Amino acid sequence: MIQMYHVDMRYAGGAFGLRDVSLHVERGEFVFLTGASGAGKTSLLRLLFAAEAPSAGQVLVSGRNLSRLSSSQVPQLRREIGVIFQDFKLLGERTVFENVAVTLEIAGASRREIRARVWSILKRLGLGHRLDHRPRALSGGEQQRVAIARALVNDPPLVLADEPTGNLDPDLARDIMDIIADAHARGTTVIVATHDPTLLERYRHRLLVLEGGALVQDNAPDSYPGSVRRAVSTSA
Ligand SMILES: Nc1ncnc2c1ncn2[C@@H]1O[C@H](COP(=O)(O)OP(=O)(O)OP(=O)(O)O)[C@@H](O)[C@H]1O
Ligand SMILES: [Mg+2]
Repeated sequence: MIQMYHVDMRYAGGAFGLRDVSLHVERGEFVFLTGASGAGKTSLLRLLFAAEAPSAGQVLVSGRNLSRLSSSQVPQLRREIGVIFQDFKLLGERTVFENVAVTLEIAGASRREIRARVWSILKRLGLGHRLDHRPRALSGGEQQRVAIARALVNDPPLVLADEPTGNLDPDLARDIMDIIADAHARGTTVIVATHDPTLLERYRHRLLVLEGGALVQDNAPDSYPGSVRRAVSTSA
């Protein structure tokens, strides 16, 4: 699903987002990405949906070489990726239902299918009573769940999540992780960036650790170093 070969990513001004990262993620894998603030987690995820370009090396997503992607091919790539980010942007003038329906409208789904799928995912996320509200009438956690519903409603083959449980209380955090785990169980490839050790301990998956933009650890699910807490904090 994802292949990276000696990838550098530098921001304007020269700061390194990523340094010499080589990585393979198979179709259907669930991967956690961790590391201290500034380690490069968001940079790596942004690279994968072509929000940033590599400065050196090669990145392949679903067989597409992102260095050679023309701007007209970017929307097609993004239709295959469910992106759950902290700076989720909901459409302020649209209802909750419409905000989630957008993903399926773009994909050309029928009205009937749109209604069924949007209703089902919003209900699962505890937003069944919020369908007709505008985003500004919702709490931060509710808005975040709408953004998650929008990202997952079309069952994308790849899901990228950046601190998806960041603003949520523990119960909601678990619900979100369950929804992501469900998508994974249906065959979706998932990458979740987090520095929440509780999450890493509860859900044992392959764990990548970034430090200063470099990939410094790649742990199999059952071979985490002694304590995840230590693994996360030593990279701080
Ligand atoms: N838009 C930008 N312009 C310049 N430098 C940036 C930009 N975004 C990130 N960086 C730099 O790139 C490096 C990696 O940042 P990144 O946001 O990927 O880290 P992160 O692991 O996601 O951190 P956090 O846990 O705080 O979200 C940092 O040194 C950061 O300062
Ligand atoms: Mg980040």
